[in-house]
Amino acid sequence: MQKWFEDAKLGIFIHYGIYAVDGVSESWSFYNGRITHEQYMKQLDGFTASKFDAEKWADLFEKAGAKYAVLTTKHHDGVALWDTEYSDLNVVKKTPAKRDLIKEYADAITKKGIRLGMYYSLIDWSHPDYPSVFESGKVPEDLSKVNKHSSPVDGIQDEEKWQKFLEFNNNQLREILTNYGKVDLLWFDGDWERSAEQWNLPAFKDYLLSFNQDLIINSRLQGHGDYKTPEQGIPITRPEGPWEFCTTINSSWGYQHADDNYKSLNQIIRMFCDCITLGGNMLLDIGPLEDGTVDPRQEAILLGLGDWIRTHEEAVFGTDEGIMTRYYLGGSTISKDKKTLYLFVYDDPKENICLKGLCNKIRKITVLHSGKELTHEIQGGVPWFNIPGTTWIHMTPEDTHEQVTVLKLEFDEELEMYGGSGAVVTHN
Ligand code: GLC
Repeated sequence: MQKWFEDAKLGIFIHYGIYAVDGVSESWSFYNGRITHEQYMKQLDGFTASKFDAEKWADLFEKAGAKYAVLTTKHHDGVALWDTEYSDLNVVKKTPAKRDLIKEYADAITKKGIRLGMYYSLIDWSHPDYPSVFESGKVPEDLSKVNKHSSPVDGIQDEEKWQKFLEFNNNQLREILTNYGKVDLLWFDGDWERSAEQWNLPAFKDYLLSFNQDLIINSRLQGHGDYKTPEQGIPITRPEGPWEFCTTINSSWGYQHADDNYKSLNQIIRMFCDCITLGGNMLLDIGPLEDGTVDPRQEAILLGLGDWIRTHEEAVFGTDEGIMTRYYLGGSTISKDKKTLYLFVYDDPKENICLKGLCNKIRKITVLHSGKELTHEIQGGVPWFNIPGTTWIHMTPEDTHEQVTVLKLEFDEELEMYGGSGAVVTHN
């Protein structure tokens, strides 16, 4: 795993495609029969990208505090945002946009020093060779439930077609990995419709790495990815290893005119804090309009999050996941040298912030956004058995930030938390 990824904390996910024209759900709308494939593809005529300005996007992502971006080069609908040699189903040939949007995106993102990520759907529900086999080659008993976009409805599998499809994916991925400068991250989706063997793993992964040894690949590769990607629900327990939580700002990945179910800025900031305090990244999604502009409500969220991150930068970047919530009922991060603990305060405290099990002597406590120094007292504890008391940090609502407050606790030594169960009782 590349170090940059674990230090990145925030990435921006972009679901941009022809689905923004009518505001239907990306690919799934025809797959689930809400509209026909033909109706869905009519959106090609309305996809103009007329105000698409990749530099503006890059600027916005930078202001949001993001260190990487991941754009849908091709969703399950098979519509490529670049001028692929291997299919005419792309926005350059089939839409009024007539531009290689991936090129403009890659140039702008790289120029800004943001890490370049490409989402690529392994499944392609528009490709004639795709619905040629069943997952793991198992023909289902009830053929009436087979979706014609993903598997052969007559139950007859065609291995040759499937091999041709894999070659097609390989060719498109070669274009993505070689025509746009260095790609830092490949974000696959849709691996679930075929088995690892069918995706030709691990050879497929070796093929991808042959273009760039540093490439990071997300987990949606039937067990062969580099990091976990929980989606839409914040993990309750920390996933093992590196991970990234992807989420929408409202309820949709792509732009949907009717979706007003927005999360508030405070909710987004808290979700971000939940991720970093558990050692993960957040991949926050925007769904631009068909013309390439970003809905002002989504833009405001990105800018608001960026403001908060800038004010609290030292608690965010260059830190690791914090102490367990049994010590402190909130999130926290720790500096790399382990001599600074950052406590995230989500709600207004009545009179104190409570921290249990701290063995270190506190040198100084400051409210990060204001610089105000806070006092504290320690109650209880048995020093001769090294059992720490409870630290009460004096803090009232006037000390809080309007979103999430961060308290900075400095120590002379590396942070040490008490792991015992208070053996003192037996010594009484
Ligand atoms: C799901 C959906 C897809 C979306 C993705 C983002 O896998 O299939 O529409 O792009 O989540 O994580």
